[in-house]
Amino acid sequence: MNQAHLKNQVKNYWNTAACGTEFINQQKFSREYFEAIESFRYTIEPEIFSFAQFTRFHDKKILEIGVGAGTDFLQWARAGADCYGIDLTEEAIEHVKHRFSLYGLQATELQVADAEKLPYAENNFDMVYSWGVIHHSPDTIKSLHEIIRVTKPGGTIKLMIYNRNSLFAFYRYVQYALLKGKPFWSFKKVLYYHQESPGTKAFTFKEVRTILKDLPVTTISLVAPATKHDLLYYKAKPFQWLAYVIASLCGWNRVGWFMMIELQKKAEN
Ligand SMILES: C[S@@+](CC[C@H](N)C(=O)[O-])C[C@H]1O[C@@H](n2cnc3c(N)ncnc32)[C@H](O)[C@@H]1O
Repeated sequence: MNQAHLKNQVKNYWNTAACGTEFINQQKFSREYFEAIESFRYTIEPEIFSFAQFTRFHDKKILEIGVGAGTDFLQWARAGADCYGIDLTEEAIEHVKHRFSLYGLQATELQVADAEKLPYAENNFDMVYSWGVIHHSPDTIKSLHEIIRVTKPGGTIKLMIYNRNSLFAFYRYVQYALLKGKPFWSFKKVLYYHQESPGTKAFTFKEVRTILKDLPVTTISLVAPATKHDLLYYKAKPFQWLAYVIASLCGWNRVGWFMMIELQKKAEN
């Protein structure tokens, strides 16, 4: 499939329902709706707090790429950051606009834009943050280059991308390959066709290190601790215990679905 066509499909998928809103039953754009989104997100994905460290970016100029329904973006604003946000979809930007006006907050700039072609000058932001986004974009590497380009020298980049060698990816393989009689499907293929928008990718640690090797960044941390998704939070206790034991044996910080990457852009010579 050509990349423009795939990107259109990605856009259509996320325009149908903003990310994180699929399990929410409250009336759209009401206060209850947004509070349910926030409560659900941080119950299921509490690692976001220690990774993002929102309050450390008070007064800093930050860009969030792929704001989705805006739950993390809200935390940057609450922390007093100078907030810029983009998303590929109008639906996401509508969510954030309603959400910010409800709480009396203001983003410096919020717009529909593409991570592969950021509408910002180079060396612009103290921090660029993107949680669960660039693996959905057809050209993930181009998005990464763009992120580095707009970050100030010495600035911080925080990214979450999916980890292919994770327990969650294995569960997806069982569900969509093994149990469907397609044991020869790779994890890659399963995730491409059955993980959220079409064309989703997930990376290994080795691939990420290879990609980063030639880029003007220093890796501050690269970890994928077991998440609630890996630990089967929605299943009965015995399944959760089993997942817990497997995660402990395989390396707790390597088998999680969320690969969290913190980088620092190198200073120019
Ligand atoms: C899984 S959601 C994550 C949203 C949000 N970061 C969160 O964690 O809830 C993926 C988001 O990435 C956006 N997205 C996908 N490709 C993009 C691109 N090339 N540029 C900007 N946003 C993109 C989608 O529109 C969607 O809102």
